[in-house]
Amino acid sequence: MAFLTVHFAERETPFKLKIEPPCSAFEAYNQACKLCGIAPRTRNCANGTCGKCRARINGRLSDKTQEELQKLSAQELAGGVRLLCQTEILGDAEIFASTADSSDLAAGKMQIVSAGFGLGGRISDYSDYGGFGVAIDLGTTTIAGLLFKAGTDKPLSSAVMPNPQRVYGTDVISRISASLEGRSAELFKLVCGAIDTLIEELCKKAGAAAADVSRISISANTTMLYLLTERDCTSISKSPFSADCLFGFSLEAGNLNGKREGLKAVDKAAAVYLLPCVSAFIGADTVACILSLNIEASSRAAVIADMGTNSEMVLFVPAENGKQAEIICTSSAAGPAFEGANISCGMCAIDGAIENISLVNGKAEFSVVGGAKPSGLCGSGLLDAVSVLRQLGQIDESGTILVSDCADDEEEIFETVAEAGGAKAVLFKDASTEISLSQNDVRAFQLAKASLCAGLECLASKAQIDAHSIGRLYLAGGFAKSFSVQNAVCVGLFPDGMAQNAKYCGNASLMGAALVLQDKHAPAKAAAIAQKATLQNLAGTKQFQDLFLKCMALKPQKL
Ligand code: FES
Repeated sequence: MAFLTVHFAERETPFKLKIEPPCSAFEAYNQACKLCGIAPRTRNCANGTCGKCRARINGRLSDKTQEELQKLSAQELAGGVRLLCQTEILGDAEIFASTADSSDLAAGKMQIVSAGFGLGGRISDYSDYGGFGVAIDLGTTTIAGLLFKAGTDKPLSSAVMPNPQRVYGTDVISRISASLEGRSAELFKLVCGAIDTLIEELCKKAGAAAADVSRISISANTTMLYLLTERDCTSISKSPFSADCLFGFSLEAGNLNGKREGLKAVDKAAAVYLLPCVSAFIGADTVACILSLNIEASSRAAVIADMGTNSEMVLFVPAENGKQAEIICTSSAAGPAFEGANISCGMCAIDGAIENISLVNGKAEFSVVGGAKPSGLCGSGLLDAVSVLRQLGQIDESGTILVSDCADDEEEIFETVAEAGGAKAVLFKDASTEISLSQNDVRAFQLAKASLCAGLECLASKAQIDAHSIGRLYLAGGFAKSFSVQNAVCVGLFPDGMAQNAKYCGNASLMGAALVLQDKHAPAKAAAIAQKATLQNLAGTKQFQDLFLKCMALKPQKL
């Protein structure tokens, strides 16, 4: 492993990238561009004849090729100028892509294409501002915000609202499709309008004027940031899903899309900082979680599990025996069961949703959001329903709902009824409402659970660590809010040994965005996290598939 340092004209500080030599200088340079939100260069001839990829490079490099000796002047060769497409990096190296340092750039020969945005706002002094700052967690389903007075860390107000882009689908795939089908401007307007509304509400609650908001920091998944900047989603829509922008820069509120359009509630020159992403699948929301939980300061391994339609998982392994600390991220499609969607009696965690079920003295007790009459099951209610039925022996280890032989069984807490396509278990019934769990609901839960559990096992195995050595399991996402660890253990939601130190961490993504407004080092820390994090791709691997099948079983895990 080695490091490549790139000096960009657009950045105040050099950007350092971890590389695995030998590697192409052209590819490594483009990777740095992506991480910095600078559009990568397109290959021209790629064979050393056009001369358009000149750059000054220092460090351990391959010998100059014949093409370079022919194309570059004696002065350029003496000054360390190389052709990126002809150069292999063999160890630590440094590329100068700033007009001040590179003679070829000064001569206009190297074209660094900007992302099409004004890369305003010097990140290093982002927290130095007057008036008010707003931190936003821009989720696929909901948008949450906090308002701060400059120089303080206690929020003056908070607000949450649904993401209106839902009209184009509840998941990121549908939104990307809509964007590619010509709806990008519409999606952009919807999200900008929602953020304007959220900021106005935050300010109204605190008696502040939206015009006095001068800083906004936004944490979101990679797709949401593409839509917020009206960026072409092609690169994140198809294999190899290599995002051509990973953000980590600031834009002007009035020009989020490079066409002088953006937020209207605040001053158009207000700086909007978009936290950096790791990849197309691991977004700034995950980086913000890592940042706010400060897991890198931990002396023991730690895991973050954000359980939603897509489960994102992070494993931090501290430095040990000369081995550097590691942050390994992965994600797996869990389906919408954890959010109470696509379940026969499912609903999101709003008034009327059963969020917890427990057995007390042989009777089932429900906890319902808002204290209202039960009207459905949210994600945590679904977990509890499956777990309680499993504990009562009404669901077997394979997930099959068992129908009692005795219809009038006095002992039976929940009635089970045979019906076409499998049995159902009736959880609640009165004159007007029946809330039941169908066989398909149990299967949907098993798929989500297996996806999460297998993903976590793969992460631990990749880092070669035992689950028992994990000091903390942070649970994020709405599902985790009303989560019963005991019920999760009963159905084996996590790998053996991982649940004992579980802790709900709230909206850690929003807290990460808030940190950017308070700590001048936070943007640099976020960039370092995004750069350091490595990705483990689970999709299609045999290990994941084998573990996935194993984890379908509703089997209690060992503590
Ligand atoms: S891309 Fe043409 S010389 Fe490198």
